[in-house]
Amino acid sequence: MRIMICGKGGTGKSALSVLIARLLSEKYKVYLIDSDESNELLPKLLGTNPPRPLAEYLGGKKKIFKIGEINIVKALETASGGIKPSGIPEKYISRSPEGIGLLTIGKVRKLGEGCACPFNFLTKVFLKNLSLDQGEIVLVDTDAGIEHIGRGVEEGSDGVLAVADPTVESLTLAMILKDNCEAGNKDFWLVLNKVTPEISEILRKTAEKMGLEITGTIRYDPDIFRSSLEGKMLQAGDALEDVKLLLKHMNLL
Ligand SMILES: Nc1ncnc2c1ncn2[C@@H]1O[C@H](COP(=O)(O)OP(=O)(O)O)[C@@H](O)[C@H]1O
Ligand SMILES: [Mg+2]
Repeated sequence: MRIMICGKGGTGKSALSVLIARLLSEKYKVYLIDSDESNELLPKLLGTNPPRPLAEYLGGKKKIFKIGEINIVKALETASGGIKPSGIPEKYISRSPEGIGLLTIGKVRKLGEGCACPFNFLTKVFLKNLSLDQGEIVLVDTDAGIEHIGRGVEEGSDGVLAVADPTVESLTLAMILKDNCEAGNKDFWLVLNKVTPEISEILRKTAEKMGLEITGTIRYDPDIFRSSLEGKMLQAGDALEDVKLLLKHMNLL
């Protein structure tokens, strides 16, 4: 299964990606793909080093559109046929202490180097052609907002987990994600993050009016917040129980 974790910037996609990956790693072989072309914190939150970007394996960002889907697939294919996470060379995968494999697509770093479109294209091609073994699961921590929809990245996934924080804006984006998932026959789940019981109630009512079903709610957890503040391996307190419940509702635990 390939699940994209999407939503407005700052809603908690990266924090939840790490917590979900950790919990799922007790049951599955988990790969986490960092497809955010800007942020750097994910490897630290996961407790590992950044791997070399997959774009580099293909000769760099500028080559990605030139070589196109067929040649990207050829370059990534292993002897066993199909793109298997286990076949990706080690320097392009870092491992967390729990054994979660982290891959990163690429980062925009230099003035005038061009947009992130080739990275989105690579994520789509990679996900679409990925052949997973029984018990393997892939999570994609996406960039802020929904620009990746325009590039059709979701085509390569089986479902989207939309993360909303306490803003109407993030529910509006979740709604757009839901509509696209329905049109593309993908699973869709919605999680409200960083909520208190009072906030959760307000958001619930708004979501209901919008026709959005809520799969789970994650409480505001100062331990999570502190990890990002200090740039350290992600710690979570009571919110971990909420994430477990979310995964149960998603039928993954
Ligand atoms: N449940 C939570 N409780 C408290 N803070 C949270 C929670 N989830 C995320 N955060 C904080 O919100 C901020 C944005 O989280 P992050 O995962 O980087 O968001 P995104 O990846 O969506 O941009 C960080 O400071 C993070 O620690
Ligand atoms: Mg992030």
